[in-house]
Amino acid sequence: MPVRPIKQIIQGIQTTDGAGVNLTRIIGGPELDMLDPFLLLDEFGSDNPDDYIAGFPPHPHRGFETITYMLNGEWQHKDSAGHEGLLGDGSVQWMTAGRGIIHSEMPIQIDGLAWGFQLWLNLPKSKKMIEPAYQDIDSELIPIVKEKAGAVKVVSGNYRRTIGPGKSHTPVLILDIHMNEKSELTIPINDGWNVFGFVYEGDEKAISKGQLAVYEKNGVVQFKTEGNKARIYLAAGEPLNEPVVRGGPFVMNTRGEVLKAFEDYQNGKFET
Ligand code: FE2
Repeated sequence: MPVRPIKQIIQGIQTTDGAGVNLTRIIGGPELDMLDPFLLLDEFGSDNPDDYIAGFPPHPHRGFETITYMLNGEWQHKDSAGHEGLLGDGSVQWMTAGRGIIHSEMPIQIDGLAWGFQLWLNLPKSKKMIEPAYQDIDSELIPIVKEKAGAVKVVSGNYRRTIGPGKSHTPVLILDIHMNEKSELTIPINDGWNVFGFVYEGDEKAISKGQLAVYEKNGVVQFKTEGNKARIYLAAGEPLNEPVVRGGPFVMNTRGEVLKAFEDYQNGKFET
């Protein structure tokens, strides 16, 4: 299998969201608007509570899924349908907004490091109005594949016959890769899928800490380390190839559908 060349390297931009949470927007910003089927990738990471304590008070979503992967910290999640969940170290919350939810994401901790990712995964046109759903995935439920090069946590999809617990509505592979020094790791990816690798700790040979690499469409992805270890958040997915129209927290296929989402939200149709 050919090794995919890197197509683009992205740094992300510092921004704030929610009630004033400082974060880095890597996908969904000016450098990379989206990487079909991924609409957004944020990294939040700070040991200063001022950067996160305000959290994300109640806000709506429609038309996609949010996958929150918490590396460090304790956050609580609540929504309009009565779901409640706790995100702790190494856990994942997978929220399928479908036709609409209103939720809040608030830190429980008042000090210490809060660090993780939120990835937005688009829903295909046929599933944008499905019932909202949640998967709260404890860190123990995420399988770890041990390799000579390090360890691969399989959050979702199939990595060398190990299946991750996160269930998506469109085919994806989501991995948290911990690489040793002087190592080489090959990740098989279906041809035609889009894939990115974000180095959040250490350095990969071609990608420095805080950089995201987007790869060409065919072949395997290969990571190499030299003197440093590296931790890489990788997501790959089959592109939907459908029109994407965003309106704040709503992502639909047409402008009319986005306006309808605002109207339904204002008319209280997201409450139950
Ligand atoms: Fe949200």
